[in-house]
Amino acid sequence: EAATAAPVKRVLLAAPRGYCAGVDRAVVAVEKALETYGAPVYVRKEIVHNKHVVETLRERGAIFVNDTDEVPPGARLVFSAHGVSPAVRDAAAARSLATIDATCPLVTKVHKEAVRFANDDYDILLIGHTGHEEVEGTAGEAPDHVQVVNSPDEVDQVVVRDPAKVVWISQTTLSVDETMETVRRLRERFPSLQDPPSDDICYATQNRQVAVKKLAPEADVVIVVGSANSSNSVRLVEVALQAGAGSAYRVDRAAEIQDEWLLGATTVGVTSGASVPEILVQDVIAHLQGHGFGQVEEVRTATEELMFSLPRELRAGLKAAG
Ligand code: F3S
Repeated sequence: EAATAAPVKRVLLAAPRGYCAGVDRAVVAVEKALETYGAPVYVRKEIVHNKHVVETLRERGAIFVNDTDEVPPGARLVFSAHGVSPAVRDAAAARSLATIDATCPLVTKVHKEAVRFANDDYDILLIGHTGHEEVEGTAGEAPDHVQVVNSPDEVDQVVVRDPAKVVWISQTTLSVDETMETVRRLRERFPSLQDPPSDDICYATQNRQVAVKKLAPEADVVIVVGSANSSNSVRLVEVALQAGAGSAYRVDRAAEIQDEWLLGATTVGVTSGASVPEILVQDVIAHLQGHGFGQVEEVRTATEELMFSLPRELRAGLKAAG
């Protein structure tokens, strides 16, 4: 009798995935600050949007606060990778805090665009998610000129002073396709809408979306490792579904994977957001291997080599400490 061979159960592992240059720099900045100055080191908001990273740094002596007024005067405070508005910088200065700015340089770039277009008196349409820390920081550079557009559906509500002087900029971690749709609709309303001088959605966000798009059509299930408040991780779930994944789920860690998600699946795609340490992905792979997904194939769509130097204040501190 001919037995039908059981289908090979496999994992398609997206590359690039996980840490981007901005996250790496921000996490190392807190680690180095702890080593150089000793605990506690205060951090405004989550340094990056990942539970595991935040818990690990907390155990090592980082104290996460929501705002500057929770930090004792004169203490050391790190600004998170998502950036802060000038009002927050001023509040920190007023409290004589020794600040270390771990804002991702690619977020700072968008801040500078906002300042420049505000100086030229443009209406600035910031595509992004209201309430996200990055959006608060960027909008705070020019509160009188910026309005936030959350989605294509919000385009019709936008009101500008002069339709000939409108520019769009964006949060760095959005879905590329959805953003382009928002821009298309904005341009329908404002034909002279100006583009930002360069892509605001960062290289890491774009690369992770391209990689998951490539494997999604072959995947019965896609597992995205990342925290619920991580914008780029949540986008990866949406992008995977749009690109044809049978289903897609976000988990903080392997233990959250439910057996029923894997029922009947032969191919599971795996990726992770830009704030996710690789160890959490390896745990997910081990979990899947334990469920019979023995073969792991990498699907690589780009190689990343970008690295940022540490925040200036910290480099100065490291030098002084010898
Ligand atoms: Fe920066 Fe993009 Fe990472 S803006 S922090 S490189 S996701």
